[in-house]
Amino acid sequence: MVKLIWENKKVNNFKLGEQKEFHPDFFKYFEYHRANFNENRENFNRSKIWINKIFWGDNLKVLYYLLNNFKEKIDLIYIDPPFFSGTNYHIKIKEKDNHYDSIAYYDHWDRDLDSYLQMLYDRIILFKKILSKTGLIFIHSDWHANHYIRLILDDIFGKNRFINNIIWYYYNKYSAGKKNLPRAYDTILVYSKSNNYTFNQIRIARKKPQKQLKRKMVNGVLKNAKDENGHVIYRIVTDKKMDDVWKIPCLQPASKEYTGFPTQKHHKLLERIIKIGSNEGDLVADFFCGSGTTLLIAEKLKRRWIGCDISKYSIYLTRKRILKYQEEKNIYYPFEILSDFSEKKKKIIESGFFQKEFSINRKK
Ligand SMILES: C[S@@+](CC[C@H](N)C(=O)[O-])C[C@H]1O[C@@H](n2cnc3c(N)ncnc32)[C@H](O)[C@@H]1O
Repeated sequence: MVKLIWENKKVNNFKLGEQKEFHPDFFKYFEYHRANFNENRENFNRSKIWINKIFWGDNLKVLYYLLNNFKEKIDLIYIDPPFFSGTNYHIKIKEKDNHYDSIAYYDHWDRDLDSYLQMLYDRIILFKKILSKTGLIFIHSDWHANHYIRLILDDIFGKNRFINNIIWYYYNKYSAGKKNLPRAYDTILVYSKSNNYTFNQIRIARKKPQKQLKRKMVNGVLKNAKDENGHVIYRIVTDKKMDDVWKIPCLQPASKEYTGFPTQKHHKLLERIIKIGSNEGDLVADFFCGSGTTLLIAEKLKRRWIGCDISKYSIYLTRKRILKYQEEKNIYYPFEILSDFSEKKKKIIESGFFQKEFSINRKK
């Protein structure tokens, strides 16, 4: 068995005894959005219905906290963490006449690759604990670190739990490299927790209808089907099984889904992932949720969801996107936003930051 080692690798950061500070009250909700069904009853009991959740905080703390009630409860985990790009993602905020620059999130690592890999390793160990026995995990990355991440997944989940290495080919992204080929794809590694996992095949339309021989099973062997005169039978097929190379564009600013959050992923990508790895009512989680793409699509596809991000801009946009969708559809599934209440965060919450109207744009 090949294992990845880095300097100061800690393989056993997780100790239940050290979990005291993450007791069930560690995260509290500061905003609660009601449902538009049943819930308006006088004696509505909040604890009896499922409430979707957005956590504002470091996902490591959130994961420890979730161990209290969500061990083996999450059916699908998708994460799109920082890619070890060495860049911090700057944004421009426009609020009425007030324009200022800020940072959406950081992808710069003090101890370089060591600290990046340790960050992911610590979290992937916990992902495995909260993933249901039939669950799938999708980890999005690119050339910067995907080769290391695959080894970490082999180590934690087992290399026989590897399901796919999906290539997301985004043909429309500008690439400035002069002495290399334009880098035009990301990878999404898929692992399962057991042999028995949810997997829904998806069929996609072919460019042109195709004439194919009709086949049938005869005594367990696939054979050409024939008519009563012994002639092979043809059929016209207009779709095909989706494979592991996905041609989906990068989201463009002109799209109505565009939020201005740097590295926002295309909703079509998440639609495929959620459809493959979960069914209606299942619990989907994204612990690096950014602008909330996964959660919005989970909501649209009638999955339950949990999201988390450390950036206040991410929480701002995720909240806004979910509320906008619910208002448009006049469907209100309840959700709450939770946080650990540091003094700094309390001030931000009390300033009404999340309810303000402002626009966010990537700074080039
Ligand atoms: C690549 S972006 C995710 C983009 C997202 N998929 C979308 O469609 O908008 C990565 C996110 O991870 C968040 N992040 C980084 N470190 C984190 C941590 N320790 N806990 C929670 N979120 C974190 C960043 O704030 C950023 O929003």
